[in-house]
Amino acid sequence: MENKKKIESEINYKALIKKPIRLFGLVYIYFFVVALAIGLYYLNVMDTSSFNTVPGTSLDTLNIIREVNTKVGGIKPAMDLGLITNPTANLIASGKKQYEAVCASCHGNDGKGDGVAAVALNPKPRNFHDVQGWTNGRSFYDLYTTLNNGVPGTGMAAYEFLPPEERVAIIHYLRTFADYPTVTEGEVKDKLDATYKLSAGVVDPNNIPIQKAITLISDENQKSIDLAVSISQKIEADSGDNAILFKNNVQNIEKAVYVYLTKLNKIDYDSFAQTIVTDPVALGYRASVINLLDKDLQSIYLYLKQISG
Ligand code: HEC
Repeated sequence: MENKKKIESEINYKALIKKPIRLFGLVYIYFFVVALAIGLYYLNVMDTSSFNTVPGTSLDTLNIIREVNTKVGGIKPAMDLGLITNPTANLIASGKKQYEAVCASCHGNDGKGDGVAAVALNPKPRNFHDVQGWTNGRSFYDLYTTLNNGVPGTGMAAYEFLPPEERVAIIHYLRTFADYPTVTEGEVKDKLDATYKLSAGVVDPNNIPIQKAITLISDENQKSIDLAVSISQKIEADSGDNAILFKNNVQNIEKAVYVYLTKLNKIDYDSFAQTIVTDPVALGYRASVINLLDKDLQSIYLYLKQISG
């Protein structure tokens, strides 16, 4: 009897209003179902509900090339080592000019590592007033090494294209920012000159800009291809014995002619024969050339020479 009294067949709203906490027991299941439905819907449209309309800004590293200027090589003039231990006022003044033109954008006019370009750099350019934390070091030799090799993996490039005397001038100016270790004659002779041959002058290679080099190479290449095509047409039309011998032993006339024009025309007959029988197919020939008599190979060699001459 007691039990029956407790089970109510209908909701007793009056009691519910008095004790609203019971309401929760009745409705939480609906919240749960709705939340689950929203969750499932969201999962479903997650891929398409929002697109990033601002293109990413990461750099295309393939397009970053440290370009060089056209420069005729030669011997960088030898320098007077005395200027390293006893810099003249002139030298330091010219170093200041160079420093402000080349280095200040990163290292700052006062050498505090706060140039305009420093903002974007990590690690930051060296503050030349600091004594601690140098990668290569603060001795004259270390500074010269930094200019010669740069600091790989940082914004500090190599300035090996500057003539030694200009580098020395810049370093002397840089050393005016703070107290740097004194330069000794021993350091100059046994380390600096021994490593970098300042007193002998440095042989400097020719430079042409990378983009120009690529164009030149592909122009040159295109010229060889055009020539190979026109010679191949001549060979195709030629019904002489040597032409037939050649045609019977090549897989691809144009390729064989191109290889001849770009590689084999500079070598003597023995090297020619040896090269061709070593890897005929890669060079445009049939494997049958391996079995050719020496005099036939010689005929091919002379024929190519004559027709491309
Ligand atoms: C593109 C910015 C940039 C320019 C231009 C630049 N530097 Fe630097 N330099 C750096 C950065 C970045 C470092 C820090 C490298 C590191 O943390 O080791 C650095 C470090 C150095 C160091 C300290 C190397 C060490 O041992 O820690 C020296 C010396 C130096 N630069 C000299 C120069 C001189 C001289 C010039 C001009 C000829 C120059 N830099 C031009 C960015 C630059």
